Amino acid sequence: MIVRVSAPSNIALIKYMGKTDASSNLPANGSLSYTLENLRSVVEVELLPHGTADQWEPLALEGAAPFHMSERGREKFLGHFDRLKKEFSMRGHFLVRSANQFPSDAGIASSASSFAALTMATADMAEKVVSGFKKPSVEKLAELSRRGSGSSCRSFFSPWALWSAEGVRGVEITSLKLQHQLIVVDAGGKAVSSSEAHRRCTTSSLFETRPRRAEERLRELTRALKEQDWATAFEVTWTEFWDMHALFETSRPSFGYMKPGTLRVLEKVREMWSTRRDGPLATLDAGPNVHLLWREDQRALMRELQE
Ligand code: PMV
Repeated sequence: MIVRVSAPSNIALIKYMGKTDASSNLPANGSLSYTLENLRSVVEVELLPHGTADQWEPLALEGAAPFHMSERGREKFLGHFDRLKKEFSMRGHFLVRSANQFPSDAGIASSASSFAALTMATADMAEKVVSGFKKPSVEKLAELSRRGSGSSCRSFFSPWALWSAEGVRGVEITSLKLQHQLIVVDAGGKAVSSSEAHRRCTTSSLFETRPRRAEERLRELTRALKEQDWATAFEVTWTEFWDMHALFETSRPSFGYMKPGTLRVLEKVREMWSTRRDGPLATLDAGPNVHLLWREDQRALMRELQE
């Protein structure tokens, strides 16, 4: 008996950085993300009729390089699976297979998509093996997923997700159709994990007032996207990722993710906005790669920047 599910990644324009409760991943401020439908993780869960423990192995995807997960990553992944099994009263042992549909050397954080896919697949399996099981609502599944990886709760909604102290939900923010472009500057692993970043950023003297700044930007960006005020949306998004990276750089001890190539790409984006009075929304995750969001009518500009 086997189930297979895929789930998308997401990129936050207003960032989740800092927690009010680390054990259940409750955020210090609201965040807003755009769902990356083309960047997905796949998870299979298979019942092991004679198994004595849950296991993980990489899932082989046609045309993709073999998928690798660190020992620590596996522990966290199977730990989340175990929590879900208890929540859904699932008995027995299972083989969990997972992989990303995007290249693992693309420098994209996959925890959001992989934890979302694991949560969905486990609920699908529970439907098969637990008698009388009623599948939880999307909101409830997203909340369960949040306990494994905070940002994964936003991957349950598309194209926009709003996650605040009240919970996570899909929001209709704009009728603009957007195109995501990722500029890979460095595809290497992170020296500081996002869990460690959440912990360490609270040591920055900028952190105390950070939730207020983020909440204010959340309101401003929501308004700008609603009114299709693209230039303001760019300014808010730009200021927000610099704010998060300033928290990293001013933590004690300080750390950072930007590389010289990151600044070169950002310089090009700024140049485009200053000469053309138009350009993409730009943002960075806890990494050196630059995420750009373009409107559909900006294809020529997109090609120009790429060149
Ligand atoms: O979900 P986590 O614990 O990997 O945190 C992710 C945090 C950022 O990606 C840096 C920002 C965000 O809101 O996604």
